[in-house]
Amino acid sequence: MSRPAVLITRVVPDSVTARLASACDIDLYTGADAIPGDELRARLAGKQALMCLLTDRIDAGVLDAAQGLLIVANIAVGFDNIDRAAARARGIVITNTPDVLTEATADLTWGLMLAVMRRIPEGERLLRRGEWKGWALDFLLGSDLRHKQLGIVGFGRIGRAVAARAGAFGMRVVYTTLDADSPGPECAGHTRGTFDEVLATSDVVSFHVPLMPETRHLINRRTLARMKRGAYLVNTSRGPVVDEDALAWALREGLIGGAALDVYEREPVVHPELLALENVVLAPHIGSATVETRTAMADLAARNVLAVLSGRAPLTPIPPG
Ligand code: DGY
Repeated sequence: MSRPAVLITRVVPDSVTARLASACDIDLYTGADAIPGDELRARLAGKQALMCLLTDRIDAGVLDAAQGLLIVANIAVGFDNIDRAAARARGIVITNTPDVLTEATADLTWGLMLAVMRRIPEGERLLRRGEWKGWALDFLLGSDLRHKQLGIVGFGRIGRAVAARAGAFGMRVVYTTLDADSPGPECAGHTRGTFDEVLATSDVVSFHVPLMPETRHLINRRTLARMKRGAYLVNTSRGPVVDEDALAWALREGLIGGAALDVYEREPVVHPELLALENVVLAPHIGSATVETRTAMADLAARNVLAVLSGRAPLTPIPPG
């Protein structure tokens, strides 16, 4: 009997291909950039499984390229790159990689918060330009974190992991959820507020929501104007949650103190005004980018593929669209 075949759209760790190779034939795309759409469709023909990245757009046309496709295993917790309704209509399972990237993404969120509030990248740029004149009492003053309020929008796994680190920095947390997330026991000590309250009272607001129609441009001119003057905005969720034109406007007008972003509306393109501002920290979508976490993400995707190909339930299915 012939073995099932899986297309993997980017090189994954050897341990992951070895796991898959025990039960399937592997077609591995080894290009340095995202697989082009026409190549994706061509190579998908005859495959039963697809392991892909958030940079791969999986629409109805792609899903139709493989008659008999059983599973799309996204190597990401977000799945806004996949047309869920089209997958459901074709009976194709979609899985993501929750949990394994929670701590790495929370760590990066704090890295960004520290970077923007303590002006670390700005100082490094100045130093590398040879412009540092030495220690001075009033040089490159940032903002204390201690005794400040961290507002968290979206209190799922990552939002909660960010909140869990706040005590170490002496910050209090006010969070809001956009759905009926029930706060778990680890939320003890954190206050729940409305979106408006979080915006209006927090010294830094961090976003941890999935990209959905309701969260697209959640941060816009109106909501930016609601933020506390001089507050900081941090986004490690999805770029389109923030209207970048509006953010550039708010920074230009001095409404907020700064922003730290890991994600962008039109990746890998970054809004030119944001690129030019010293009080904006820009990371290239590296929230989950550690060796351990990326290996765990790819491995979880592979285990989902193997489960579905052997007729078992996927480990981490996403709800049908
Ligand atoms: C995800 O998994 O959705 C992240 O954005 C990748 O780091």
